Amino acid sequence: MAEPKKLFIKTYGCQMNVYDSERMAEAMGGEGYVRTERPEDADMILLNTCHIREKAAEKVYSELGRFRPLKAEKPDLKIGVAGCVAQAEGAEIMARQPLVDLVVGPQSYHRLPELTAKATAGEKALDTDFPEEDKFEHLKSRPRVKRGPTAFLTVQEGCDKFCAFCVVPYTRGAEVSRPADRVIAEARDLVERGVREITLLGQNVNAYHGHEGGLAGLIRDLAGIDGLERIRFTTSHPNDMDDALIAAHGEVEKLMPYLHLPVQAGSDRILKAMNRKHTAEAYIRLIERIRAARPDLLLSGDFIVGFPGETEADFQATLDLVETVGYGQAYSFKYSPRPGTPAAEKAHVDAAEADARLQRLQALLNRQQKAAQDAMVGRDVHVLFEKPGRLPGQMVGKSEYLHAVHADADDVTMGDIRKVRIVRSNSNSLAGEILWA
Ligand code: SAH
Ligand code: SF4
Ligand code: F3S
Repeated sequence: MAEPKKLFIKTYGCQMNVYDSERMAEAMGGEGYVRTERPEDADMILLNTCHIREKAAEKVYSELGRFRPLKAEKPDLKIGVAGCVAQAEGAEIMARQPLVDLVVGPQSYHRLPELTAKATAGEKALDTDFPEEDKFEHLKSRPRVKRGPTAFLTVQEGCDKFCAFCVVPYTRGAEVSRPADRVIAEARDLVERGVREITLLGQNVNAYHGHEGGLAGLIRDLAGIDGLERIRFTTSHPNDMDDALIAAHGEVEKLMPYLHLPVQAGSDRILKAMNRKHTAEAYIRLIERIRAARPDLLLSGDFIVGFPGETEADFQATLDLVETVGYGQAYSFKYSPRPGTPAAEKAHVDAAEADARLQRLQALLNRQQKAAQDAMVGRDVHVLFEKPGRLPGQMVGKSEYLHAVHADADDVTMGDIRKVRIVRSNSNSLAGEILWA
C-alpha cells in the first residue's frame, strides 16, 4: 500500500477556525491524507487564517515566506490558504505569491477534495464562493476515533451585525444556523467517542435559529444527552441575549456559569459609531438580569480602544463600565483599521495615545481577573480533568468557571469530573485538592 500523504495545518484566529481545521483534516482523510505536526514532512500545508486585525493577517505572509525553502526542496509540496484571509484577499495572494497552489474560503471547505485534486494536477485552485448549502453536510462525517474530553461544535456561522470595525460579515458571510437535529446528532456522536464538554460555536451564537426555541432550546435538548456533562457557548452579542437564554443560565445545570459577552466600549457615542445598537446602560442592565438568574456567573468580554473619534472622556467611560460590571476574564485590543469596513475611512486616534489607553485598560482588567481568580481560594469547584500536569501525578483541568486547576490526581482518569477544593491561586492557574468524600 502507498504511504499516506501528510497534511500539516496551522490554525490562526478564533475557535471556529480550530473546529474548521479539524473538519478539513477529516475531509482530507477521505483523500488519503493523515495529519502531521511537522511542516517539513508534509505533502500539503494548509494555513487556516484570520483577518480580524492587521497583525493577524500579516502573519500569513511571513509564514508563507518561511515555507519557501520547503517548497524549493520538495516541488510537489502543495501550499494552501484557507480561512478569513483567503476569503478577503485570496485572489490577490494567488497572484502575488507563486508558491500558493490553493485558496479556499471558509464557506467552501466541502470543495477542498476537488480543489486538492486540481492543485495536485498542477493547476491553481481557488474557491471563495458563499454557496447556499451547508458546508458541513458535504464534509466527510467525523471518523469514529476516540476524542479528548472537550470539543467545539459550530452551530452558527456568519454575522449580519456589521459592527463598523469588523471584517467578519465580509469574510464569513451572512448569519446561517445549522438545523438542530444535525447538531444534536453530531453532539451524540462526540459523546460516544469520549467527549464530556461541548462548546457551541458561532460568530453570533446566540442569534442561533436552527431550533424553534433558539439557542436556549438547543441547549435544553443537548442537556438531555446522557454522558454530556457540560455545555458552553461562544461568542454572543448583547442584543441577542433573550429571556429564554437568560432563564437557561439559571435552570440548566449542565450549562456552565461562564459567559463571554463582548461590549467593546463604554461610551454611548462610540457604541453608536461602532454600530453596536445598544447603550452602555442597556448592557449593564442586561448583566444584572443574567446575574439575577445565575449569581455566580463569571463574565468575560472583549474591548477595543482607540476606535476612530474616541476621546479621553469616551475612554474613561469604558473604564467606568469595566469598574461597574466586573469581569473575571477579558480580551482587549487596540483598534486596527480593516480594509472595506466603514470605520477604516475615519480619522484615527494617535497611535501612542491608543497604546497608552490599552495599557491602562489592561491594568484594570488584569486586576479584576486576578481578584476573581484569587476569590476562588477556599471554594469547592468541579474540575473536568483534561491532561497530565507539569509534575508527576498531577492532572490539569477546568473548573465550571473555566479557570485552569491542577491537582495531585493519582487515581483520576482523563475526562473525570471531580470535586476539588481550591487551595492556592497562582499567576495563571489554581491549585486544588481533590475531595474524595
Ligand atoms: N463575534 C464576536 C467577536 C468577533 S471578533 C462578537 O461580536 O463579539 C473578536 C473580537 O475582536 C471582537 O469582539 C473585537 O473586540 C475584536 N475586533 C474585531 N475587529 C477589530 C478591529 N478592527 N480592531 C481591533 N479589534 C477588533
Ligand atoms: Fe464582528 Fe460585530 Fe459581527 Fe461580532 S457582531 S462578528 S464584532 S460584526
Ligand atoms: Fe479571525 Fe475569521 Fe475568526 S477573521 S476571528 S478567523 S471569523
